[in-house]
Amino acid sequence: MQARTAAVGGDDFDQLARDAVYRAMFTRRDVRSHFVADDLDDSVLARLLTAAHHAPSVGYMQPWNFIVIRDATRRRQVRDLFLAAREQELPVIEAERQALYRKLKLEGICESALNLCITCDRQRSKNSPLGRWHNPEMDLYSTVCAVQNFWLAARAEGIGVGWVSIIETEALKRLLSIPEHVTPIAYLCVGRVSEFAPRPDLEAHGWGKRLPLPELVMSEIFCGAGEAPLKSAIARLGGVELPKP
Ligand SMILES: Cc1cc2nc3c(=O)[nH]c(=O)nc-3n(C[C@H](O)[C@H](O)[C@H](O)COP(=O)(O)O)c2cc1C
Repeated sequence: MQARTAAVGGDDFDQLARDAVYRAMFTRRDVRSHFVADDLDDSVLARLLTAAHHAPSVGYMQPWNFIVIRDATRRRQVRDLFLAAREQELPVIEAERQALYRKLKLEGICESALNLCITCDRQRSKNSPLGRWHNPEMDLYSTVCAVQNFWLAARAEGIGVGWVSIIETEALKRLLSIPEHVTPIAYLCVGRVSEFAPRPDLEAHGWGKRLPLPELVMSEIFCGAGEAPLKSAIARLGGVELPKP
């Protein structure tokens, strides 16, 4: 990233701090395969949860809860839910990709140090739905912001996080005794890792690749052409520039 010259409000990030923020974003990975057996210290987990808890939320609703799941039996039960859901999902995958889909490792439920289910309590501020009258789903989006804070803080701490969404929601709610009005947003596998892969697993296995950012930028209206200088600036970045280790 380019160095900026002017400080803002006396509380600006210096170059090192800025680089660190971008580095967390660009090197964060969804981790499934590289968990190691080490325990995760509660003091570290406390920092990650505190980062999650500082996410933005609609009307300052803070609709999240964090269910920490350590028990091996319960985790095996969640893994069984994953295996069942994967079988159900398989038929809707394009026929020529089904063999690859089967080979992909899409969870680290039992190998990670612990699991974390981040939920959204849809009734937390039901009598003052600031920002949710027209868009009631904003509480769900707020909770996703908490997930991302957790994920980035974890990367900065050298801790891997893998999001498992191939699970039937109602079955998960029953297993974790989650009440009706609470929605599980993210089921995460969390733990120390042997490495962070340089690129997404799904890219390494030929499932997908990063879309060219300039093609996703529109001007003024959906599909509006324009913003050529901005698109050139993006293209000049040529992908991710990481600070030297
Ligand atoms: C909402 C959401 C659900 C996801 N669900 C799964 C999942 O069930 N299994 C899995 O292996 N990865 C899952 N992922 C991770 C994505 O596959 C991953 O983010 C993507 O391939 C890009 O890789 P990266 O996160 O390493 O950059 C999920 C990610 C998000 C944001």
